[in-house]
Amino acid sequence: MSTIVRKSPLPRYYQLKEIMREKIRNGEWKPGDLIPSERELGEQYGISRMTARQAITELVNEGLFYREQGKGTFVSRRKITQQLIHLTGFTEDMKARGQQPGTRVLSAEMRPADEAVAERLRIKPGLQIFRLHRLRLADGEPLAIEVSHISFIGCEKLLEEDLEHNSLYRLLETKYGLPLLEADQELEAGLIGSEEAQYLKVPVGSPALFTRRVTYTERNQPIEYASSVYCGNKYVFYTHMKREQ
Ligand code: GLP
Repeated sequence: MSTIVRKSPLPRYYQLKEIMREKIRNGEWKPGDLIPSERELGEQYGISRMTARQAITELVNEGLFYREQGKGTFVSRRKITQQLIHLTGFTEDMKARGQQPGTRVLSAEMRPADEAVAERLRIKPGLQIFRLHRLRLADGEPLAIEVSHISFIGCEKLLEEDLEHNSLYRLLETKYGLPLLEADQELEAGLIGSEEAQYLKVPVGSPALFTRRVTYTERNQPIEYASSVYCGNKYVFYTHMKREQ
């Protein structure tokens, strides 16, 4: 389909969505390209601006396009396929994909563990832990928000680290000598809330993937409990399963 068929039973906004999808599929529109404005699309396809807007908005919500305020709407990069087989950190994952990892520290503090965090970290509630709230980016595009709760003797030293330019996993393993051996992780579908929407630059109510991970160091000792919110339309999680013999 390359034009809008007036007599078609398919709504016009839907036809325009399919036309734009095809342009991405056949490479005419590439990741990072600015797409035509609502007015231009309207004129080109003989439809109203409202119809063009609806088609664009739906493709933004599906993650195929993203908007930049004052600049326009662009074609998104392909989704990130995140394996769930090996225990890796964000920095490693992005580097392996050839993307530049980025971090904005939203807060870093020592605070007493509440009941829920204490249970995950197998410590007594009220014990001081290091809490790190970060926005994670790849090539400047915000992808996830993570809150890490870290517990080990001397974890307050993390307050002095430059966590905008250093990987937490790398610091723990190389500087603090704490090998990260295993993790348990849960995934849950949800929606982006208003605070997250601002940081992740997506509309409130867009799809989200919540993950909760407990990472263990030697002797099955939990060292990190992290809860993360990923843009649901930018990620595909992948695992490999073997049937029990
Ligand atoms: C992933 C995990 C987090 C972990 C982070 C470490 O994103 N979900 O639990 O804290 O990796 O990433 P980095 O080593 O880049 O700080």
